Amino acid sequence: TGPAPLPPLTMIPDSLRSLRDYERQAEAHMPAASWRHVQSGAGAETTLAANRAQFDRHRLVPRALADMRGATTGLDLFGLRHAAPILLAPVAYHRLAHPDGELATVSAATALETTMVVSTLSSVPLEDIAARARAVASELAMAPPPLWFQLYLQPDRGHTAELVRRAEAAGYQVLVFTVDAGVKRSGFALPPGVDAANLRGMPVLSQSASVAGGRMIFGTALLDAAPTWESLDWLRGITRLPIVVKGLLSPADARMAAGRGADGIIVSNHGGRVLDGLATPLDVLPAMAEAVDGKVPLLLDSGVREATDVLKALALGARAVLIGRPQIHALAVAGMQGVAHALHILRTELELAMAQVGCPSLAAIARGDLLMGSGSN
Ligand code: FNR
Repeated sequence: TGPAPLPPLTMIPDSLRSLRDYERQAEAHMPAASWRHVQSGAGAETTLAANRAQFDRHRLVPRALADMRGATTGLDLFGLRHAAPILLAPVAYHRLAHPDGELATVSAATALETTMVVSTLSSVPLEDIAARARAVASELAMAPPPLWFQLYLQPDRGHTAELVRRAEAAGYQVLVFTVDAGVKRSGFALPPGVDAANLRGMPVLSQSASVAGGRMIFGTALLDAAPTWESLDWLRGITRLPIVVKGLLSPADARMAAGRGADGIIVSNHGGRVLDGLATPLDVLPAMAEAVDGKVPLLLDSGVREATDVLKALALGARAVLIGRPQIHALAVAGMQGVAHALHILRTELELAMAQVGCPSLAAIARGDLLMGSGSN
């Protein structure tokens, strides 16, 4: 059990200047079991480590003397304006990190014009999160950034359809269909007072169908509940919201998803949490981009920790990236203020990095001469 976690800070000290600083500080602010749950990867964690190494392998080659007047980090995705190519990845149970949970995260995200992808396994009801986003935006007299909802297929189609309908009614504008965690081992038990707030009254297997310990799974109900291509067809048939399939690493799957009505793809290995030994998103991104040939946007997550990671992902074919664990680190350290500060750090890092490599727009990053070995023009 160890020492009790420190309470969240109420003032941000000067020592916190990067997402790494927040990560180092966060352990002291979380119960040991929750910290391990958030940080850990599957197996020997080689994929988790590779997620960082993938970014470090690439080096940027700046273009000098670029005209940066009118520079912007903005982009359109599915007809919706996003202020920067950095989104908050769906992460379950924010109340593991802070008592305000997702309400704190969405307040910070809204103020910083950042899209939050709310998890099926949020520890605050999805309607309350959307209402908080609207309240914060109206207080700041700004248009709220688009909110996205992440869907885990439930064993019962009726329950899944109900989640979709609730997300639509609450004003979520994009659905993220996560397909890489249908079968996943986890020995983590939620502490008292934290639950899957959207799934109250639904069967417990719905909690992303985790298998504890070393049980056999073939022939069990677990596999019956895991999503298939047919589930994507079904989902396409019950909603008009854009659907982004999360958790693909295969170019053939990317082509298949685009052909079956997906509007976007998140290239991801789930932060190294599902199966050790998986490829990293950056490894496969160029082949994925070739496979979809511009038909749908590719997003990427797993290991993004600083602005130069964003540049590298965009240079290799992603339109935007998502960050997972860092939002939990910032939330644990300093609640809403911490998340707002962490997002501010990333946004300012991104503008600085774009200026330093001579890219006044995301399109300039995507042009493809920013990385070593990519040739010059
Ligand atoms: C996740 N992730 C995840 N994904 C999803 O689609 N639904 C979910 O509920 C969760 N829950 C979740 C909990 C925790 C504690 C972690 C760390 C991750 C995966 C997440 O969306 C994302 O793919 C990774 O976190 C990205 O990697 P980084 O940024 O954490 O390295």
